[in-house]
Amino acid sequence: MCGIVGYIGTKKAVPVLINGLLSLEYRGYDSAGLAVLNNDNSLKIVKDMGRVKKLQDNSELESLTGSIGIAHTRWATRGMPSKINSHPHTDNNNTFTVVHNGIIENYDELKSFIEKKGYALHSETDTELIPNLIHYFYNKNTKKGVLFAVTEALKKLEGSYALEITSPLLKDEIIVVKKDSPVVIGVGKNENYIASDIPAILSYTKDFYFMEDYEIAEVKKDSITFYNYDLNIIEKEIKNIEWDAIASEKNGYDDYMLKEIYEQPTAIRETIGTSFNKEGNINLPLNSLDVNKYNKIYIVACGTAMHAGIATKYIFEKFTQIPCEVDMASEFRYRNPLINEKTLCIFISQSGETADTIAALKLAKKSGSTTLSIVNVIGSSITRISDFVLYTHAGPEIAVASTKAYTCQVTLLTILALFISEKLGLSNTADFEKLKNDLNQLPDKIKYILDNCDKVKNIANQIYQDKNMFFIGRINDYAVAMEGSLKVKEITYIHSEAYAAGELKHGPIALIEDGVSVIGIITNPSISSKTLSNLDEVVTRGANIILISNQDIDINSSNINEESIVKIPDCSSLISPVLSVIPLQLLAYHIAKCKKLDVDKPRNLAKSVTVE
Ligand code: AGP
Ligand code: GLU
Repeated sequence: MCGIVGYIGTKKAVPVLINGLLSLEYRGYDSAGLAVLNNDNSLKIVKDMGRVKKLQDNSELESLTGSIGIAHTRWATRGMPSKINSHPHTDNNNTFTVVHNGIIENYDELKSFIEKKGYALHSETDTELIPNLIHYFYNKNTKKGVLFAVTEALKKLEGSYALEITSPLLKDEIIVVKKDSPVVIGVGKNENYIASDIPAILSYTKDFYFMEDYEIAEVKKDSITFYNYDLNIIEKEIKNIEWDAIASEKNGYDDYMLKEIYEQPTAIRETIGTSFNKEGNINLPLNSLDVNKYNKIYIVACGTAMHAGIATKYIFEKFTQIPCEVDMASEFRYRNPLINEKTLCIFISQSGETADTIAALKLAKKSGSTTLSIVNVIGSSITRISDFVLYTHAGPEIAVASTKAYTCQVTLLTILALFISEKLGLSNTADFEKLKNDLNQLPDKIKYILDNCDKVKNIANQIYQDKNMFFIGRINDYAVAMEGSLKVKEITYIHSEAYAAGELKHGPIALIEDGVSVIGIITNPSISSKTLSNLDEVVTRGANIILISNQDIDINSSNINEESIVKIPDCSSLISPVLSVIPLQLLAYHIAKCKKLDVDKPRNLAKSVTVE
């Protein structure tokens, strides 16, 4: 995964490319580079290891005055981060220059193919194969032109790729190709833009083409022509995007993550607002969903999105009476799941571009299951493949660590479960009404937590030098424990584990020693005494307890210090993950700040995982 940007028009390309890369850095940030076709038709490349800021400060950029350019911020898949492995890559004759998001899987085969044809590879990347393959096919049959050579090269590639191709031979155009990695084309007046996602170019245009797999675009400043791999022209529709470019900026917050944590009341209000009608009835765009035919629900996703599934599995089972299983997309896709036309497969994804989730979705479609996706990014790949789509309406989420997308996912999944319950005629219960009512109170309750969170910051100050941490809870408190633990791992680099509270004594308790922090989550009154007992078990082994709860805890009997109890507002335990996760997001955030880490761009990660 990485970010790609392109510009063709009348203004200088470099500022547009750098702006786009800065916005796309969440997708990868180990190297950055760009290529510009200057007005004398010479192609100049500037690239290096390191962040986009380093590229931006590179004095060599001054000589790049042209109005056609392509750019890349890298998340290395093959070949260490280094200057030579940075993109753009060029063929041996410096004719074709390429930036690439994705992985070429048949690298070994193509390397020996191209080397046998007399080409030498200088970098360790898979990407360098591509310009050389294009050059080979171009040279073989020059009369057929560049586009033909590109398609011949594409036919050889296995794997995923979003490509931008430029060349002095192409004078007034950039060629763009897509397969399994995202790319959009923004339409301007006498200028056009290319990017891995919408926000990167949203300040220049609101009109977009979404490229589909196996499409090629010939982008000129005043025209865009789409082809399939047989070079037949394809008609595509421009889509207007409403997002506000300002919404993707920091708005005075130190980091995107903090801004996004604080946006949660608004984001959830939006999720709820778009799911209910004026009369207060659930209103989802699922008229043709035949709820009576399912005997199994699967929720499939990765990382935080999967945690949203685990947190709501119990709601689906309770209110729909249909067994519900949650699976990691990366496992689901390879384990021959028992799915058929009686299965409802729900996919969750913030980005809508996660490679494993897309593969699992394609598998489910093939099996005849109904596919319904819960996605944040409008027009993303998953939305275009699924039978049904519900948008979370969380707004752009830029920080690598997901926060508002998670709480909106849990909210929307809950609404979906209630919707199915209603359609099945199972909604005439007090629990149903209570949950519906509690949903509407979530935004105010989150705001209350955010307005009263000094304690969390103090706790972070005390534990930020810890080497290990444990998160425990039962049922959906356990789902939140997993999410809290993931947040801590991702942005603080502290080793942390999440366990179902009752499971600790079956092994992990051996790791508890003096001073180890154990964070307990207790929101379910029917089992609070059980989790409290498990906390007592670790206290007696020296653990330092932090408790997130909406219950009145009897401090003396539980050996927990008042300063370590973060009280959250009461609500139905079914929906409590939306509230109990907030102090954990803040805890991870403040620990990372104490450690002076880059909260928004943690090491080794990228926002959108478009590789397997
Ligand atoms: C969340 O903090 C992570 N960065 C990661 O686990 C993420 O949730 C996962 O990669 C799934 O992404 P998606 O929602 O865009 O599909
Ligand atoms: N596979 C290419 C590389 O490692 C592209 C990776 C990316 O998408 O950033 O350079």
